[in-house]
Amino acid sequence: MDKITLGTRKVSIEFPGVKALSDVDFNIETGVIHAVMGANGAGKSTLMKVLAGSNPDYTGEVLYNGKPVQLRHPADAKKLGIQIVYQEVDMALIPTLTVAENVMFNDMVMNMGHKQFVNYGAIRRKAKETLARLNVNLDVRRWCGTLTLAQKQMVLIARAVQSACNFLILDEPTAPLSDTETEELFRVVRHLRETENIAIIFITHRIQEVLQICDSYTVMRNGEIVDTTPITPQTTSKEIVDKMLGRSFEENFPKVACDIGEKALVIDQLTEREGRVKDISIYVRKGEIVGLAGLVGGGKTELCKTIFGAYHKSSGRVVLNGKELKIKNPTDAVKNRIALVPEERRKEGVLVAETVTFNTAAACLEDYCTLSFVNDRKAARRAKELVESLSIKTPSVKQRVAYLSGGNQQKVAVAKWLAADCDVYIFDEPTKGVDVGAKQEIFHLINEIAKAGNCVIYATCENSELLSITDRMYVMFDGQIMAELETSKTSEDEIMHYATGAATKYAG
Ligand SMILES: Nc1ncnc2c1ncn2[C@@H]1O[C@H](COP(=O)(O)OP(=O)(O)OP(=O)(O)O)[C@@H](O)[C@H]1O
Ligand SMILES: [Mg+2]
Repeated sequence: MDKITLGTRKVSIEFPGVKALSDVDFNIETGVIHAVMGANGAGKSTLMKVLAGSNPDYTGEVLYNGKPVQLRHPADAKKLGIQIVYQEVDMALIPTLTVAENVMFNDMVMNMGHKQFVNYGAIRRKAKETLARLNVNLDVRRWCGTLTLAQKQMVLIARAVQSACNFLILDEPTAPLSDTETEELFRVVRHLRETENIAIIFITHRIQEVLQICDSYTVMRNGEIVDTTPITPQTTSKEIVDKMLGRSFEENFPKVACDIGEKALVIDQLTEREGRVKDISIYVRKGEIVGLAGLVGGGKTELCKTIFGAYHKSSGRVVLNGKELKIKNPTDAVKNRIALVPEERRKEGVLVAETVTFNTAAACLEDYCTLSFVNDRKAARRAKELVESLSIKTPSVKQRVAYLSGGNQQKVAVAKWLAADCDVYIFDEPTKGVDVGAKQEIFHLINEIAKAGNCVIYATCENSELLSITDRMYVMFDGQIMAELETSKTSEDEIMHYATGAATKYAG
């Protein structure tokens, strides 16, 4: 099959105070799966937006099959068959339309005004054909609002390949997916490379995935391209990480031994009103990091939210230091010195229209207030400390969070609660979308929090993280606790045994 090439020559983009891309020469051809790697804020998404026509103010040139083209509007890119699926799949889908309508969305919009009637039979048929091309089994009559994240992503990929598609950009597609869902996505991606000669540009922070599925990779650092090379059986994750961070880096998250004190947080037979968590009894001692393990959808997020008052409990008690807490909403939880770093950072974790300082001060405003004046200088000083300790990439603490890269927004969501002085810290997937360097810094800070005698709950589906940072863990399945495990005595196998709902005792 004929190859099509796409390349940039000296492409640069400047935002106020940030040189996001400098003289980038990026090249790709059809029929390969190519990874773009780099620390948070390196410029990956900015470069992809140039290729997708949504960063019109770039300087330099884009070449399509060697000929200069202008990508000043998403339509310019689509015409050349360059399609992008952004990470926030919810923003691109219309939940009140069916799968068929969402897959055929571009067609339907284009034809509006030309035809008076929508031929729903044809739309369903074409959507079915497209999904069949991907080997995806999904009822096209379902409302998109009822789909899982992984299914929504398939709908968007189907939409992309339904139109002309030579280059498919996937910006962190696997971040919210479970292992099996990721496998399914990889199957579809390979299928597109093999049968349709499409190039897939794949952004992720999980290096194992790159080694597993990509043919080649590009590393970006500080808005520049550091290296582009094929992936061979000899490629190691360490060499990629070193290139990303520009220094030699050992990936290890040593657990800091803390003095573990008495039981401080006791959750007693907690049940959520809609049954999303059922009859949960767990405890956390002072200085202890307790994991919540389980697959995506196992109920970890729901439990975190119920403890925090974001979901309503129908029965059960939350007791802290011997006192039963009355938590009806998150405000009550914060008053009782409980913090939650939520999973959905853009929706719940940060106020994107506000500055970094505002966000890091928001959880503990009274610390910065005398009478009714906010002490801006003190708040800014604390924000600067946090920016430094988490390496948040921003031109200043006055920057609006909306202008930070995805991973840096996540770090602000974590920083916000680190700045608050609480007794219980609940983290729900805090490392999703953050680079390996920042992950280590977040682990370090969580260790510090525990060392200061606080209770930490750490929910994640990354079993390796649970094994390295927690003291003990509870494994959830279908909103219930299946097992309580000592971290030093368990294994990934044992966690998976209970996470998949086995009621029998793990035999080893
Ligand atoms: N609209 C904007 N206004 C101002 N600065 C921006 C804007 N978009 C991006 N930036 C800045 O450009 C730099 C590159 O951001 P980009 O989103 O491309 O990073 P990234 O490599 O995708 O990181 P991540 O892994 O965190 O998603 C960052 O410093 C970011 O703050
Ligand atoms: Mg990004």
